[in-house]
Formats: sequence, C-alpha cells, structure tokens
Amino acid sequence: MQEFDKVGVVGLGTMGAGIAEVFARAGFQVWGVEVDGDALERGRGHVRRSLSKAVEKGKLSADEQSGILGRISFTTDREELRDADFVVEAVPERMDLKREVFADLDRICPPGTILATNTSSLSVTEIAALTERPDKVVGLHFFNPAPVMKLTEVVGTISSAPATVAIAAEVAKRIGKTPVAVTDRAGFVANALLVPFINDAISVYERRIASREEIDNAVTKDADLPMGPLTLADLVGVDVCLAVMDVLWEEFRTPRYAAAPLLRRMVSAGRLGRKSGRGFYDHTGAQDPAEELPTGPLAQAVRAGSFGFDLAAMLLVPHVNDALRMVGDGYASAQDIDTAMRFGCGYPKGPIELFEERGLPWFGAVLEAPIPARLTTATAAPVLLAMEVSGQQRLR
Ligand SMILES: NC(=O)c1ccc[n+]([C@@H]2O[C@H](COP(=O)([O-])OP(=O)(O)OC[C@H]3O[C@@H](n4cnc5c(N)ncnc54)[C@H](O)[C@@H]3O)[C@@H](O)[C@H]2O)c1
Repeated sequence: MQEFDKVGVVGLGTMGAGIAEVFARAGFQVWGVEVDGDALERGRGHVRRSLSKAVEKGKLSADEQSGILGRISFTTDREELRDADFVVEAVPERMDLKREVFADLDRICPPGTILATNTSSLSVTEIAALTERPDKVVGLHFFNPAPVMKLTEVVGTISSAPATVAIAAEVAKRIGKTPVAVTDRAGFVANALLVPFINDAISVYERRIASREEIDNAVTKDADLPMGPLTLADLVGVDVCLAVMDVLWEEFRTPRYAAAPLLRRMVSAGRLGRKSGRGFYDHTGAQDPAEELPTGPLAQAVRAGSFGFDLAAMLLVPHVNDALRMVGDGYASAQDIDTAMRFGCGYPKGPIELFEERGLPWFGAVLEAPIPARLTTATAAPVLLAMEVSGQQRLR
C-alpha cells in the first residue's frame, strides 16, 4: 500500500470526532475540519472526553492521550486539506451538504487523494459522481461509537477503482478495524439487516401481539443479543431507523421494507428515543413501568406457542432470512455477513451461524406457517428453496 500519513476528517460530530480519534490513535496525522468555531470546540470536546474516559478506565496513559491529541489539528479551514492523502467526510446525512463538501474537496485535494464518505444511507455512487475523480471515491462506513466498534464497511461503487477499495480496506485494518467490502446498495450489510428487524419488532408491538418488554426479552434471551430491538431503536434513534427503512423501500420496493406505521408516527410525535428523552421507553429518568401484557387472541396464541414457534423465532427467523437472501443475491458472503453483525452490532453469533446451528425446521416453523406468514412480512429467501431442492444443509 502507498505510504501516507496525512488524513482529513470533515465534520467532527458524533461520528467524525470518533473517526479522527481512531486515526490519531493509529499514528496518522489528522486534520479535523469543522464548519465554524463553536462546532470546532464541540468536536474537540468530543475527542477530549472520549480520550479522558479511556485514561480513567486505565486503557490509555496520560502520555498516550497527549500524543494522540497532539496528532490532531483542529481547523475551520478546509483548504488545509490541500496535501491530505486520505479524507473521510462525516457531515450530516444530507445530499446538499455532501454535494458542497465533495465538490470542494475535489477542488482542494490533489488528484491522487482518496475521498471517503461515512454516509449510512445515501448513494456512494451519487456522491462519487459529484467529483472529477469517481474512481477515487469510496464509502467507509464506521459504527457508533467509532473508537469502540470494530466493523467498517468499505463500500465500492461501479465507478471506484479496485485499488481505491483495496487501499480503503487496508487503511481500515491499520486503524484496527475489521473491514467488510461491499458494493453500493441501500443499507449496506449491517443496517439492511438490523433495521428491518427493528421495524418488524415495532410492527409486532403496534399490533399488540406482545408488549415491548416481551419483545426485547424474548430476543435477548433466545439469541443472546446485547439488547432487544425496541431498546436498540431508542439508542440508534427512531428517526434514523425510519430514514433507513425509507431508503430500503426506495431501492427495493418490497413489503419487507415498508416502515411500520407506528415508526412513522413516533417520528412525527418527536419520540425519537434517548436523544429526545422518549421513544419506546422513557429516558427522562421518570418512572416507566412495565406495560400491561396484550391479551388479544393473537397475543395469547403466540405466547402459548400455539403456532408451533415462539415470539423470539417469529422475530429472528425473518431477520436471519434477510441474511440468507443477501447471500443468495450474491451481495455478501455468509462469512462477511456474520462478521458485520458481530463487529458492527455486537451479536455474539452471526445470523448465518445461527441459521446453521438451528437448521431448517426452526425456519420452516415460522416461514411455512400460513397464519404467521401474514404476521411478519417475510417470504422465504430463494436460497432456501435452492438448498431444499439440492438437499444441501449448509451454506458454506
Ligand atoms: N450517528 C451514527 O450513529 C452514524 C453511524 C454511522 C454513520 N453515520 C453517518 O455519519 C455522518 C455524520 O453523522 P453524525 O451522526 O456524526 O452527525 P452529527 O450531526 O453528529 O455531526 C456532523 C458534524 O458535521 C459538521 N458539519 C456540518 N456541515 C459541515 C461542513 N460543511 N464542513 C464541516 N463540518 C460540517 C457539524 O457541525 C457536525 O459537527 C452521516 O453521514 C451519518 O449518516 C452516523
């Protein structure tokens, strides 16, 4: 890989500050660019706080902390990126902002500089097309919090040069991340799997099939996930979930990607999760008692296992089915999917591993049951049919 050490990070908010920190920790010289003095101080504050926490926890020495801070130059002058070798953009998720930033970076940076975007849901191809160097533009999708989460999705477009993707993956490794190379498709791997799963949980909750606690507990208990889907929606941001669902819907137009009506209403009502103090749960510190259990016939039948499967399977099987569909589509390998969900979402086991462990009967119970098939929006991934007709038991 070509040697370089000067990295630019544009936007030092939630993600950019963490990304700047990660590069500086790995020894790169970082130029962190913000839009004005106030935002710059906020960005500097994010980095300082994150490093101080690491020192308090004994994960970093005071010397290392000052070394890392010394490697980050904070500036509001984008022109300082004129000799950057690699730039990561992390400004808010709006195409008008990305357009302005990329046009400017394209003008400022030398022709060989790789420009990466941390976008979660916009088209990397479209962003690349805003520049005169689409072959040198790539997605580098970090996970929140960037200093902690190990996954980085490296998104190549039909315009990116293979060398650009290879360098970006190498850079990800150098900063201690586990890269998963994907192509430009809505939601990439992790969000395209995680958010419809959250949406399904919201739909089950909305139809009073189970209470929010039943939903969250069922999944965490059954698959040992770090948190339940409704808790996660509050953490990620209910509005962010809706934005991802809408992008998936826009691209694929299948019922599986239609946002649950309640998800949209929550956003309209400003119940965005932790950041607004209220989402599916209360985060204001006020008493938030467990909800009463729904008692309708569907709720009772699911609770009693009368359909031949439990609530956890009802939510997890469609989720795992989406992962199988991704493998069947040739979008990502079983290995990459499992890596993405383990390192990006903290799953103890990837969805394909879960499938291989539990087998087709677990699946069939949910996907082939006539009534529950109408409860979830999942229809069996074609790869399952292929496995069935060929008698193949495993995906790898
Ligand atoms: N928050 C997440 O969990 C998460 C995870 C992965 C990817 N992303 C993506 O990362 C990007 C940034 O998201 P975020 O959550 O960090 O947003 P944020 O709002 O926390 O931070 C964005 C920062 O960019 C700055 N900014 C705005 N315009 C600018 C400009 N023209 N030049 C320089 N700085 C500018 C803002 O002042 C702000 O500090 C988005 O594309 C988002 O989709 C977010």
